Amino acid sequence: MSQALARWAQIGARPKGTAPSSSSSDSAPLAATIASAPATSGNPPPWDKSPIELAYGELQGALSARALEEHYALYRSYIDKVNAASAGLEDLSGLPTEAQPLAYRGLKFECASAAAAVVLHEAYFTGLTDKPVPPTPAGLAAALTRDLGPAWFGDLAQAVLASRGWAVIGWGFGELHLFTQDDHNGGVAGYLPIIAIDAYEHAYWMDHGTDKKSYVAALRNFFNWPELESRFTAAGGR
Ligand SMILES: [Fe+2]
Repeated sequence: MSQALARWAQIGARPKGTAPSSSSSDSAPLAATIASAPATSGNPPPWDKSPIELAYGELQGALSARALEEHYALYRSYIDKVNAASAGLEDLSGLPTEAQPLAYRGLKFECASAAAAVVLHEAYFTGLTDKPVPPTPAGLAAALTRDLGPAWFGDLAQAVLASRGWAVIGWGFGELHLFTQDDHNGGVAGYLPIIAIDAYEHAYWMDHGTDKKSYVAALRNFFNWPELESRFTAAGGR
């Protein structure tokens, strides 16, 4: 599990300064506990996660240096968004009481969305390389053919074309599965991203215009198979 994914699991997990097991919820009726909760939610301190470094300047024929530079800046901004949303959750008491649940919901949604964006962008950037080597026949390559069929890349390309956000091949429940996400946090519970392709316009527009097919076809030449393989193994893939 990546550092980002592990951190994501902690966001909003419990109020700051409380023990993992809650004695109050054990001894008091749940409704009373909720009713007495302060508007200050006590979320985690700012996300001090260090952004990854891009290991390449360009992927010739696929992604230009300018496009990668802009995209990388966008990725970094999502870390700031997690912190901005968390800070907003720190104190909602200045809002009218009836508005607090709506504000809480909005900030929680944005926090989850931005954290998921960090996880997916890291999977995307590190899943590509300017020094590609062929995949080994066993492991992930074999699992892709076994679970998704020999035309798995064609299906992945179709998913990229169809999606407004991400196309992801994830590992979960003993198999690989291909799915699309129209939002960063639109993933399928239980699946860890192994191959994540950014299908938002910002990922390809500068280099490929509206030709999404050209974008995804070019990316195939730069898959970082050793990284994808180690991710698959770490997720428990077999
Ligand atoms: Fe992106």
